[in-house]
Amino acid sequence: MKKHPPFYMLITFICIISILYALSNIVIVDPGAEAFLSHKTDLTRELKPQIWLTVMYMHSAFACVAMASGLINMSTRWYERRRRFHRMNGYVYVSSVFLVVLTSGYMAPYATGGKISSMGFNLLNILWLVVTATALVHIWKKRMIQHRHWMIRSYAFCFTNALIHLFTFVLHQVIGIAYVTSYTIGLYGAIVLLIAASEVIVRVEKRPFL
Ligand code: HEM
Repeated sequence: MKKHPPFYMLITFICIISILYALSNIVIVDPGAEAFLSHKTDLTRELKPQIWLTVMYMHSAFACVAMASGLINMSTRWYERRRRFHRMNGYVYVSSVFLVVLTSGYMAPYATGGKISSMGFNLLNILWLVVTATALVHIWKKRMIQHRHWMIRSYAFCFTNALIHLFTFVLHQVIGIAYVTSYTIGLYGAIVLLIAASEVIVRVEKRPFL
């Protein structure tokens, strides 16, 4: 049986860490998101904690499904063996992305950091939808390479949360910048870095190596 290339193994490792991080954060570290919500001090509209929390749990669950299904579909080994599965799993990924964006749309107006962060999240919502829809249209038109490249661009956004938290940790805990500022910088930093990283992968990929 063909082994997975090292780069795919690296993405698998990052994916597992990101899922475990998100789940442990909402279940063990900050259940009820009390610490996270305590940073929302200058909200311009009233936040209903119970509704926000329910939406955030749904958001996180669909995000984990997107990460897992996306990872499986990136494997060329699986694609070669099970095309039907790839197609079905692809629709699971696209539906999950849509639901993450939908729930994000509810949470964005209450984002930590106020209007600037809200704008960043809304930009991300639009970008993720457009990039994923582009990948879908390419495969409907049987353009395999373009489909794969746009899916790589789409999948990169699955690591938004992990990267925002990594940026926030370094800026806040290590450098000492205020939490809210660190979070906002983290959001924009994550957007730029994820777009750049996916672009590098697409350009370097002369043959399928994931
Ligand atoms: C796919 C991986 C993702 C995971 C695992 C994830 C998980 C989470 C979690 C656990 C939260 C609660 C707050 C926190 O702990 O950070 C959250 C908040 C949020 N997420 Fe995601 N998320 C992901 C991707 C995205 C993407 C791609 C977007 C935008 C398109 C997004 C938009 C939001 C928004 C708007 C909030 C509220 C932020 C705030 O209140 O400051 N998330 N996410």
